[in-house]
Amino acid sequence: MVYYTVCSRKNYTAMTTHLIDQFNRNIDYIRLSVTDRCDFRCIYCMSEDMHFMPRKDLLTLEELQRLAEIFIQLGVKKIRITGGEPLVRKDIDQLFLNLGKNRDLKELTLTTNASQLKKKGQMLIDAGVKRINISLDSLDSKVFKKMTRTGHLDTILENIYFAIELGFKKIKLNVVLMRGINDHEIYNLVDFAIKNALDVSFIEEMPLGDVTHERKETFVSNDDLLKNLKNHYNLIKTSISTGGPANYWQIQNSQTHVGLISPHSHNFCESCNRVRISCKGELFLCLGQENKIELLPLLRRHLNDDKPIINSILDALKTKPKSHEFEIHKKSPAVIRFMSHTGG
Ligand code: 5AD
Ligand code: SF4
Repeated sequence: MVYYTVCSRKNYTAMTTHLIDQFNRNIDYIRLSVTDRCDFRCIYCMSEDMHFMPRKDLLTLEELQRLAEIFIQLGVKKIRITGGEPLVRKDIDQLFLNLGKNRDLKELTLTTNASQLKKKGQMLIDAGVKRINISLDSLDSKVFKKMTRTGHLDTILENIYFAIELGFKKIKLNVVLMRGINDHEIYNLVDFAIKNALDVSFIEEMPLGDVTHERKETFVSNDDLLKNLKNHYNLIKTSISTGGPANYWQIQNSQTHVGLISPHSHNFCESCNRVRISCKGELFLCLGQENKIELLPLLRRHLNDDKPIINSILDALKTKPKSHEFEIHKKSPAVIRFMSHTGG
């Protein structure tokens, strides 16, 4: 096997399988967005009248797979398939099934809104997906509808129960709390997680894309949330680390971990181990910064030679920013693109 390192661009047949950036962070995790489309229009994620990209601008299934395999060669051990809603992409099964067979990949996972889990759950199990993240912001059908604009809570709950039955090793719920909208449901959501032996993460809303609400008015700080949770549950701090922005607590006498993903209250960038690839093949070095390189033209220009693509990735990694610059109290979004463009 050929080994690469970001430090040895000119002589990239040497040294190590690790992608190490200029701040000595080991990048072994990619989030690969396979579509910007979604059957929901969550109010913190999309505008009501989204314009999606023309299909010709998206990476084909073969390009997605080639890129994933290049990153695996470069030492990436974990791939999360994201979107948009990844399971609405028609040809997606083959990507999961093929990547699932790659022995150098330690974990293949996805983030989903659960709308397609009845149809796709068994395929995910067959592909070896063991942990999945499901967005679930409310257990009240009216609030759920208000937040997702097009989603139906009953169907989603049915699909979540179906996924539990299928036997994924771990299901984690993702909740974006919004003041005055779903912040009265904290205990309901945690109790639901406890009852079903699921994990649950609360994500502070990030200023991505231009939305209709005033983010500073709906913002719920995870510091305040933690105080409330501690008053209500016995929380045991755990040392679980995903190399990501979450801090985890276990709820005593349960199988449930509560994660707090706090881009605002706490800076998590020091231990960042990931980069993101959009469905257009843009390699984003940071969720909260504009730095990117375009991989799609390279993939199409160099059909039988991975070296130019590898060199671009290595060069790009040198520009991975030290941290995001989210500031919820600013009027304009920190980053103009929506999460559904970058990949959640
Ligand atoms: N801020 C925080 N989380 C977001 N998500 C989408 N947009 C935002 C945002 N602006 C989350 C969804 C989902 C994941 C893909 O990203 O809740 O769980
Ligand atoms: Fe779709 Fe997820 Fe965005 Fe909601 S948060 S609109 S489910 S991609």
